[in-house]
Amino acid sequence: MKNLVVLSGAGMSAESGISTFRDAGGLWDQYPVEQVATPEGYARNPELVIRFYNERRKQLLTVEPNEGHLGVAALEEEFNVTVVTQNVDNLHERAGSTHVIHLHGELTKVCSSLNPNNPNYIRELKPEEYEVHLGDLAGDGSQLRPFIVWFGEAVPQIEVAIDYVKQADILVIIGTSLNVYPAAGLLHYAPRTADIYLIDPAPVDAHTQRPIHLIRKGASAGVKELRELLKH
Ligand code: APR
Repeated sequence: MKNLVVLSGAGMSAESGISTFRDAGGLWDQYPVEQVATPEGYARNPELVIRFYNERRKQLLTVEPNEGHLGVAALEEEFNVTVVTQNVDNLHERAGSTHVIHLHGELTKVCSSLNPNNPNYIRELKPEEYEVHLGDLAGDGSQLRPFIVWFGEAVPQIEVAIDYVKQADILVIIGTSLNVYPAAGLLHYAPRTADIYLIDPAPVDAHTQRPIHLIRKGASAGVKELRELLKH
């Protein structure tokens, strides 16, 4: 089986009703990114940050995977698929993808404020625990924090993702503006012989001279077209 790596971003989940970040009316228009997605913002106003992620987390209970997520999961019938996602939602997993690497963390998990990447303190929340409060503590006695990689923080999963991209026969980029590094640099690790597809309804600058098969569609229609193209 060929190795197929998907790199997904917020546009993957747009048709499920989850806002993207940088489109007009996106999340970063509604909430200042430096307040809710940086360690400094968290230090200044933890309550606001905890509330912001409580809202995002509770939204998971009201949304469903879309045809795009389902189509990506179905690729496992034909390919050895690794999904590398910048998304913190769990829609790839809920659609049936079995190998998902979350570069920017996971909404359903919490961790220590002192040492966010210590696996001893990373915990999956049950839906009835989705509302985290100031004063709820991690195993090391620090405030429970959302298991989210904020701007300015290390991205521990990037090395794992690079290793998969280096082995890719096919790389499929879906719904990301490729503005945020190191995720945006992943495509440079794809072997020269790999085929690269990019699914996005808007033009995206992939910062490469390499040939890319562009599919100018939303995630659902785009993944459908991709699956047709990969049959031939
Ligand atoms: N289907 C596919 N793509 C879509 C759709 C859709 N229905 N609607 C919008 N898009 C595309 C947009 O055209 C844009 O290129 O999705 C992309 C979303 O880009 P961003 O909002 O910048 O999201 P993303 O690239 O995932 O952001 C990266 O930045 O804010 C941080 O940590 C956050 O993981 C996030 C990272």
